Amino acid sequence: MTTSAIAGVPGPHGSGASAPALAVTELGKRYGGVQAVDGISLSLAPGERMGVIGPNGAGKTTLFKMIAGDVSPTVGTIDLFGRDVTKLDTARRARLGVGRTFQVSNLFRDMTVLDNVRVAARGGSSQARIFWRTQGLRDEVTTRAIEMLDSVDLTSRRDDTVADLSHGEQRQLEIAMALVTEPSILLLDEPAAGLSAAERTTLRDLIESLPRTLPVLLIEHDMSLALGLTDRVMCMENGRHVVTGTPDEVRDHPTVKEIYLGRRDKK
Ligand SMILES: Nc1ncnc2c1ncn2[C@@H]1O[C@H](COP(=O)(O)OP(=O)(O)OP(=O)(O)O)[C@@H](O)[C@H]1O
Ligand SMILES: [Mg+2]
Repeated sequence: MTTSAIAGVPGPHGSGASAPALAVTELGKRYGGVQAVDGISLSLAPGERMGVIGPNGAGKTTLFKMIAGDVSPTVGTIDLFGRDVTKLDTARRARLGVGRTFQVSNLFRDMTVLDNVRVAARGGSSQARIFWRTQGLRDEVTTRAIEMLDSVDLTSRRDDTVADLSHGEQRQLEIAMALVTEPSILLLDEPAAGLSAAERTTLRDLIESLPRTLPVLLIEHDMSLALGLTDRVMCMENGRHVVTGTPDEVRDHPTVKEIYLGRRDKK
């Protein structure tokens, strides 16, 4: 894939060569009577790929949203490259190098695939969209967007509108939109959800092909996908930590086996 547009890690935003890319400490989130995330800690080294797995309602998406800055934690802290970002909003975290997949609903469905990546390159907001439209094309943005579409194998869909893409292609586009921001860390929330087996294979190959220098936190219900793509995996259930280890260690853990192979809820 094209990697030239992706920032080095920790990149220009990094504040310490030896600091973890991401450090989550005793993070908790309560929604009324529900403790969605309960005392979760994790650390992601520069260049490491980590998976977070767990059954429905485990708290994975809530954890993701706290790391991305969509949701404020009730307790705990989040550090990126040695800097405490717990109080920073999504836009400031993005400027510090956090790349994350956009939800499908955040794609501009009436716009072309290429234009979506252009908008993402300019900051991703609807304001950026208006600014871009009124300012006209900027060549370096277009070039970067085209490179990114090539890297996620969407060149042939460049001029189609998002509404015409398959779910799998939309996920590829979401990843292109995250990469075009030149992130220092990439957060993916259940990228394979709702995809066919063939689309999952394409997506797995795409994530696999990302530069090894880019730290990735992959939140994923699908255990085989998460374990196949990551160096280390954390399993959570009911908001709490179950085990963190290598994919083999996690696969063989009795509680993980019970969750994924036992009688409990499956997606
Ligand atoms: N905005 C919210 N308001 C109230 N409760 C919430 C909210 N978001 C999540 N929850 C609750 O927090 C718990 C964890 O939900 P979360 O979506 O983080 O789980 P998940 O691991 O991502 O599950 P899934 O595999 O289904 O995506 C659930 O009990 C959920 O109902
Ligand atoms: Mg979820």
